[in-house]
Amino acid sequence: MKALVILGSPRTNMNTDILLEQVIKGLEAKNVEVEKIELGKLKFDPCISCNACGQTGQCYKKDDLTSIYDKFDTSDIIVVGSPMYFNSVTAITKTMIDRCQAFWSSKYILNKPSIDKNKKRKGMFVCVGGAKQPEEGFVGATVVIDLFFKAINTEYVYNMLVDNTDEVFVGDSKDLLKKAYKMGSDLAKY
Ligand SMILES: Cc1cc2nc3c(=O)[nH]c(=O)nc-3n(C[C@H](O)[C@H](O)[C@H](O)COP(=O)(O)O)c2cc1C
Repeated sequence: MKALVILGSPRTNMNTDILLEQVIKGLEAKNVEVEKIELGKLKFDPCISCNACGQTGQCYKKDDLTSIYDKFDTSDIIVVGSPMYFNSVTAITKTMIDRCQAFWSSKYILNKPSIDKNKKRKGMFVCVGGAKQPEEGFVGATVVIDLFFKAINTEYVYNMLVDNTDEVFVGDSKDLLKKAYKMGSDLAKY
């Protein structure tokens, strides 16, 4: 099995990244081949609503995101990690998602998905929020991910939502690290 893990925080070795690294360890313990993409290190433009993908099913832009479409297609597991920014995902995460409009258009407009619709993909979302809040505080981010996973024919199976990260660093919580590891290894069971 193959997993694509996407870091949507511009910060490496911080809360989101540390949780993703545990998810990766859990996946690798089950022999899943993992590719991690750090969006903060890539250069890519936002979607400009040119509607080329509404006609071709492909994004016409050629930049650092171009290779990601095939990676979604060939992955069995997709993990997106993003901090919450203004009650949603980060701008780099949202820009990547908007650039996947090609999948949405090919599926819902052209009825000819440019992502293999017969492949079973499992999706997990890791989201951290600096403020102390209940799970409902994450709804702005989870609804975005829900629609994104639908567009890429991925079943949204797990959320790991962690609040209060501006007070409590996830790296100091053995329980959170263990939980992320277990979710990774459980994802591989499907
Ligand atoms: C631009 C910006 C907007 C933010 N908006 C929110 C927010 O709406 N809710 C919240 O709980 N935390 C918010 N935060 C705090 C981050 O979610 C928090 O610092 C988180 O730990 C960052 O993730 P990282 O450590 O993986 O980079 C915001 C931080 C930034 C920089």
